[in-house]
Amino acid sequence: MTRPAAAPKAGRPRTAYVCTECGADHNKWQGQCAGCGAWNTLAEFVVEPATKGAAGPATRRAGWAGKAEAPKITALKEVRHIEDARVSTGIGELDRVLGGGLVEGAVVLVGGDPGIGKSTLLLQAVAKMSATFPALYVTGEESLGQVAGRAARLDLPLDGLQGLAETGVETILQHAAGMRPKLIVADSVQTLWTETLTAAPGSVSQVRESAARLVRYAKETGTAVFLVGHVTKEGGIAGPRVLEHMVDAVLYFEGESGSRFRVLRAFKNRFGAVNELGVFAMGDKGLKEVPNPSAIFLSGGSTRQPGSCVMVTREGTRPLLVEVQALVDSSPLSNPRRVAVGLEGNRLAMLLAVLHRHGGIAVGDQDVFVNVVGGIRVQETAADLPVLLAVLSSLQDRPLAEKTIAFGEVGLSGEIRPVPNGEERLREAATHGFKRAIVPKANAPKAGTLKGLDVIAVERLADALEACI
Ligand code: TYD
Ligand code: MG
Repeated sequence: MTRPAAAPKAGRPRTAYVCTECGADHNKWQGQCAGCGAWNTLAEFVVEPATKGAAGPATRRAGWAGKAEAPKITALKEVRHIEDARVSTGIGELDRVLGGGLVEGAVVLVGGDPGIGKSTLLLQAVAKMSATFPALYVTGEESLGQVAGRAARLDLPLDGLQGLAETGVETILQHAAGMRPKLIVADSVQTLWTETLTAAPGSVSQVRESAARLVRYAKETGTAVFLVGHVTKEGGIAGPRVLEHMVDAVLYFEGESGSRFRVLRAFKNRFGAVNELGVFAMGDKGLKEVPNPSAIFLSGGSTRQPGSCVMVTREGTRPLLVEVQALVDSSPLSNPRRVAVGLEGNRLAMLLAVLHRHGGIAVGDQDVFVNVVGGIRVQETAADLPVLLAVLSSLQDRPLAEKTIAFGEVGLSGEIRPVPNGEERLREAATHGFKRAIVPKANAPKAGTLKGLDVIAVERLADALEACI
């Protein structure tokens, strides 16, 4: 007697192909990821939905939160909103980047290079909060002894702060269900693993699923969660970019090696402004806030050197004075180099084309290097005009007039376009003793001066170049 062909059993291990770049799932192997278009990035994973308690979202929820209520349609008007439930982290600059404090139930991913200070920052924050806000610090990278040692060295108060050296997400959630902390720090998300998957810890599917479980826990219980994530060579948070979609906020911790300044930037924030910057200085007592960072990104000394232009950028909600430097040098290459550090490379190429076409200044046979001082990254278009002025100054080997700042977007037809919050930028420059500002016409105050700052309003690139020559 032949047995009837068995239908595929539910709960049998399934093979999935997950893109290591973007985390997209595929049923079969293929050379190119359909999600992000990257080649040769699909890795095979055996997905075992076999373990009880992980079979479906409803049972899973019942497993750790103890309530088996099925989700139901609710009038949004009646839902308790958590917008106002913000808690200060005790670190003003971190609060600022979070949009005014930590929101209950928010999941925040903190990314950055190894050694930049992610663990230090979070330890300082949770220690400050722990007196009023019971916190669980889960460490998968360091031992509890190391964490406690660091806390002691930094003189941090540790009442109310519990530690757990564990990487299994089920165990972590079990402990959390018992302790009911209001805040969990998972350091780092790359070390987490869930027993519902057989893939190796650190693999994309493990990181993704473990993070997803913490996110669900956070949303169900109103616990705030900080996830620490390492950054890959390419600059994304290691493994799945999909983590960025799951969480409420993504903060990047940046800084130049050798510089003690660190910049925390909100890359995504459901509860506040993106591109908000928090500035810290790393010292022997951990990270110190720099609440008034306006002038730290100037190179110090005299900025009156060829190839230097100070700009006022406004990343997030406050203006910052930043120095842009350019070096223009005749190139031995047939294809001269254009290198931008802290700025976008393609934009530099475009600006040089505008400089040639509408300013009559050719740098086609020159190497052009542009750098933003202090390891900070400027993403807004207000940097266009300062970049071109710095390039011009280096090309002519003549410094700009003393105490000059500039900002403005440069359009493809050579027009200088206004940027947001012009007056606020000008006031900041005046406060720091600058005397002359080259700015878009629409950003200039009617009177032509502002608190002793002589404002030169320009409409076209040619006007701006003339003002400098
Ligand atoms: P850490 O927070 O461990 O970095 P991450 O978690 O991002 O990998 O920071 C480690 C670096 O910070 C290390 O290079 C030493 C430096 N550091 C100080 O300079 N002063 C301090 O007080 C501490 C705690 C760290
Ligand atoms: Mg660390």
